[in-house]
Amino acid sequence: MTAVKSICCIGAGYVGGPTCAVIAYKCHDIKVTIVDVNPARIAAWNSDKLPIYEPGLEDVVLARRGKNLFFSTNVDGAIQEADLIFVSVNTPTKKSGMGAGRAADLAYVESATRRIAQVATSSKIVVEKSTVPCRTAQSMRTILEANSTDKIHFDILSNPEFLAEGTAIDDLLKPDRVLIGALQTPEGIRAQQALADVYGHWVAKESILTTNLWSSELSKLAANAMLAQRISSVNALSAICEATGADVDEVAYACGRDSRLGSKFLKASVGFGGSCFQKDILNLVYLSEQLNLPEVAAYWHQVVIMNEYQKKRFVRNIIKTLFNTITNKKIAVLGFAFKKDTGDTRESAAITLIKDFIQESARVAIYDPKVDRQQIVMDLSEPGVVDTQQQVEKHVQICSSAYEAAKDADAVVLVTEWDEFRDDQLDYAKIYDGMHKPAFLFDGRLLVNAPKLRKMGFKVNVIGKTE
Ligand code: NAD
Ligand code: UGA
Repeated sequence: MTAVKSICCIGAGYVGGPTCAVIAYKCHDIKVTIVDVNPARIAAWNSDKLPIYEPGLEDVVLARRGKNLFFSTNVDGAIQEADLIFVSVNTPTKKSGMGAGRAADLAYVESATRRIAQVATSSKIVVEKSTVPCRTAQSMRTILEANSTDKIHFDILSNPEFLAEGTAIDDLLKPDRVLIGALQTPEGIRAQQALADVYGHWVAKESILTTNLWSSELSKLAANAMLAQRISSVNALSAICEATGADVDEVAYACGRDSRLGSKFLKASVGFGGSCFQKDILNLVYLSEQLNLPEVAAYWHQVVIMNEYQKKRFVRNIIKTLFNTITNKKIAVLGFAFKKDTGDTRESAAITLIKDFIQESARVAIYDPKVDRQQIVMDLSEPGVVDTQQQVEKHVQICSSAYEAAKDADAVVLVTEWDEFRDDQLDYAKIYDGMHKPAFLFDGRLLVNAPKLRKMGFKVNVIGKTE
């Protein structure tokens, strides 16, 4: 295999867009075309307002767009032109049929693979970038091989993505590691090397790990499961802290100082969100069940169960503290994205919380610096909860500042850890003045200095703390 000259990325989402934009940014000798079936998304990538908010992304895109970085809806043309194709489509949890609620829906991966098989006119390296169950590459290979000829050969690689939203560009520019799995055949190893050479433009050789295909696929699910497990562990401890007077920040710090544990990913919270943790753990649970390993399945499932418990526990605590009823009370929710520095709301804890508040007949005022009204309304409309968008608009007020949301509120609930909600940035005295008294503040992110706010008059309640 000669050096890769042309790359196509199928799927212009949170992963395909930033990942391949960074490849174009670092490899001026490679033409990178990112394609999608969604014309609105491609139009946004080609506009002044990119479809996703991610610090540093705009600079990277603007530096290379129109030079060696292109966004297009011409999927077939880009497939034909490329010698390496990333499949970076969505792999959501299945909503119906076998494995519903657990298994990954691989329909988009299969359809992209079939498209490659159908339209390719030359040999390709096909790279599984989406997060998939272990051995998905086998199905992709079967589809591709059924269409290979003497002249057209397909190699398949697994190259899972480890970026986190909000820090995607940094993560891509300075990855802890890049993982490339391949079949251990001479052709597979050659393809693996060709992709390693692409990353080699900016990633040190020691940070490019090569494994067999199945280890690579499983490592992605394993990494997400272990990260989420740490959060569920610290969240489980937060409940014990609240019942005993221990302080979850102090406990996490004391544990994290053990170099075997490390300090990262031990921040107690209102529960993890995001499009992947829950989906990928459920995927691992399903895989374990399919492999007839029920104890293994139950072990990982507990991470998700604990996350649900944490969200419910937080809501219960709010209702209890507000004298056992929130009917007609105004609750200001600060933050709607699943974490700071992103506009992504997928599986955000805010959605679960707000739906519970609405069911309790509270009035909810929401402010998030990066999530727009339309997204919030869409996320909160759900059959059986708030059926129509008009009903959502009736129950919730979407605000353009934290001050507006907190005006006349009975309680402020901190759900996303945006820097602007810190007590050295937001004027909490002003917030307090505008609220009904007693003015309650529930910190689901251990973001504010509770003693300082108590001095102002707030009744403060923090996850994992009694003081
Ligand atoms: P996304 O929904 O933002 O983007 C996927 C895109 O693929 C969509 O725009 C969709 O229109 C497009 N698409 C679907 N089928 C297509 C087809 N046949 N042809 C062309 N385009 C098609 O999803 P995402 O967040 O980018 O995630 C993609 C994959 O990466 C998932 O498997 C996810 O688990 C994994 N992942 C995501 C993250 C993250 O932070 N979001 C991080 C690591 C891995
Ligand atoms: C996560 C992983 O960190 C990435 O490595 C992975 O590539 C990605 O999933 C994926 O496969 O999609 P992401 O979901 O973007 O990235 O963001 P995280 O920083 O992991 O945060 C996930 C959730 O956990 C957020 O709701 C965050 O607020 C919460 N969290 C995180 C905590 O509650 N406590 C922590 O200590 C860390």
